[in-house]
Amino acid sequence: MSRFIQELRNCGYNLASCAERLEVFPRLGVNFWQKMRISWTPRKEDPIDNLITLFIDGQKVSADIIAKQISPFFVDAALEMRLVERKGDLLQSSFCLFPCYGKYLVTDHAEKNTAINQVMWLWGESYLLGGFVKRISRRRAIDLGTGSGVHAILASDHCARVVGADVSPRAIAFSNFNAALNEKSNIDFVMSDLFDSIEGTCDLLVSNVPYAPDTAAKASDNFWSGGIDGTELLRRVVEALPTRLDPDGTAHINSLFPNPPGTKIKDHFDAWLGGNLTEWDVLDHTWPVPQYQDLLSDQPFHGDMSAWRFGVVSMRRSRNGQGWWKEVAGSSLFFRKDGSCSVIADHDAA
Ligand SMILES: C[S@@+](CC[C@H](N)C(=O)[O-])C[C@H]1O[C@@H](n2cnc3c(N)ncnc32)[C@H](O)[C@@H]1O
Repeated sequence: MSRFIQELRNCGYNLASCAERLEVFPRLGVNFWQKMRISWTPRKEDPIDNLITLFIDGQKVSADIIAKQISPFFVDAALEMRLVERKGDLLQSSFCLFPCYGKYLVTDHAEKNTAINQVMWLWGESYLLGGFVKRISRRRAIDLGTGSGVHAILASDHCARVVGADVSPRAIAFSNFNAALNEKSNIDFVMSDLFDSIEGTCDLLVSNVPYAPDTAAKASDNFWSGGIDGTELLRRVVEALPTRLDPDGTAHINSLFPNPPGTKIKDHFDAWLGGNLTEWDVLDHTWPVPQYQDLLSDQPFHGDMSAWRFGVVSMRRSRNGQGWWKEVAGSSLFFRKDGSCSVIADHDAA
């Protein structure tokens, strides 16, 4: 596995090269976004284009070309790991393989398929949340709704121990594979309904649990449903903060915040924290999404979305008992042209 990863690195399959080709980096899940697909024409002579075609767009690529452009070893290893199948002279993959801040993550193919409980491919939000976390030394991180394991694997570089939790056995299998692929040995992936099967606390919490209001699927049935009003899992995560986050810890919560008309994220957090929101310093990196389009639910929400927001809310306990809530203006310009994230949620710098 390490040579396979090394060859991906050596050939330049990274965020910068993908951003250069796909323009708006967070839309790397290109085949799900038809508009994006139209604007991009892969060149056969370009190894990165071929890897994007194979591993992001799900299209066939010549095995000989990949062997020549990367190496015969790379093709053999991909076949042996079953990341690709051979179809005559061509290779095809049923999975995605994303570069992500120096790591590589395998996910399910980036197109809705209800025959399996799909492991979510990396959307913009995965890169956003991964980019926002301040990468300082930590004792223990917990990643709720780990999916591919992306946030647990990113945390493993700077945290002594990491726990990644998911209710989906398929997600746990992918996470374990991805941890091995990235040579990580300090992560425990556990089947857990949020914190339910995890003991103890953490000083870094990363959460991207399902958030879409969905009347067709119950919360946790898939990677997108947050129950009828979308907040079922989000509420439980916030309610658990006082007992699960260490006094010096930070929590980063990515979500859609489907606020009913006239309400704000703050109102819900205060209620979920028992009226004690003033004990917390909060960086609110969310932006309004009144045009939010749910592409996944069989019965998406069609009511008033005027107060809905999307993004990351980062929280730590107030240092002086006088907490604050800072709305940090966001317009989705979080990524630089080279695919790196330009924002770190840093309470000390706020
Ligand atoms: C939106 S995906 C996030 C995947 C990944 N963390 C990312 O950011 O790319 C949500 C994940 O939460 C998992 N999930 C759903 N309900 C859960 C629950 N009650 N406890 C833990 N994980 C849950 C889903 O199986 C899915 O893998």
